[in-house]
Amino acid sequence: MQDWDIVSGIGITALAVAAARAVESSRDEPLVSDPYAVAFVEAADSPIPLPRRAGDLPRDDDLWERMSLFVGLRSRFFDEYLLEAMTAGVRQVVVLAAGLDARAFRLDLPPETTLYEVDQPRVLEFKDSVLDAQPRCERRTVAVDLRNDWAGALGDAGFDPEQPTAWLVEGLLPYLSRDASAQLLDTLHTLSAPGSTVAIEYVHDPKAALEDPAVRNLLREFGFDYAALLPEDPHGDPGEQLSAAGWTVSAVSGADLAERYGRTPLDDGASMFGANDRYLTGRFG
Ligand SMILES: C[S@@+](CC[C@H](N)C(=O)[O-])C[C@H]1O[C@@H](n2cnc3c(N)ncnc32)[C@H](O)[C@@H]1O
Repeated sequence: MQDWDIVSGIGITALAVAAARAVESSRDEPLVSDPYAVAFVEAADSPIPLPRRAGDLPRDDDLWERMSLFVGLRSRFFDEYLLEAMTAGVRQVVVLAAGLDARAFRLDLPPETTLYEVDQPRVLEFKDSVLDAQPRCERRTVAVDLRNDWAGALGDAGFDPEQPTAWLVEGLLPYLSRDASAQLLDTLHTLSAPGSTVAIEYVHDPKAALEDPAVRNLLREFGFDYAALLPEDPHGDPGEQLSAAGWTVSAVSGADLAERYGRTPLDDGASMFGANDRYLTGRFG
């Protein structure tokens, strides 16, 4: 599929992630507090049932307990990553595949920061039609397909490649083919001044993860053909590619994050992809 809105194709995964953030935000002592997530779920005409709060979940639910833990852990980790980059003095942020990410609204970012949200045009249109709030910093949306010339579109929006950037790539790599993900990281590297940082969610051994019957069964519970959204030739290891380009990188697993934030992983991990979720952070120069 070439493009999509918030309730079709890969777009609906952004809505599902927002539902998971809404559920997690409704808990006592949540991993993430995203007051905007529920409004997105309420406004969308979703073809699948989506919960809005933990109290909505049936007793025998497995999917949304996992989703809210998985998304809660990664949200918390990437929130901390961005705030650390701000403390280090970075003032340019690019969120690739931003979906319904509301960090420009909910994180205490220095007001002089410019934050670019890159995603498909109809996803960003939906987001802006629902959001009724002031961002904490200068927020610019960049409507482009990340398999095309997104560097040009980012430049047109004012991105400055001479300034260090904090990049965030959350919930994107699993949907890109090996070539498309390699090209995306190559572009990201080309646009990174010394002092830039990156945080990426990816799947270690995506083929094995998606052949795992437990993972396939869980993904089927969404009520749409999730597996059909994934490429046949999945992304490679972003750490290897970035290290070869001169970045210093390290990665942790979902289970590591569960331990860090005092959560109990659900039997086979803290993850939607078995024990295969990985969270990379890196620095250039
Ligand atoms: C799972 S959602 C993640 C959204 C957000 N990063 C989050 O974690 O809440 C995947 C997002 O990737 C975007 N995406 C996937 N492939 C894309 C592409 N080729 N061009 C632009 N956006 C893309 C989708 O539109 C969707 O918003």
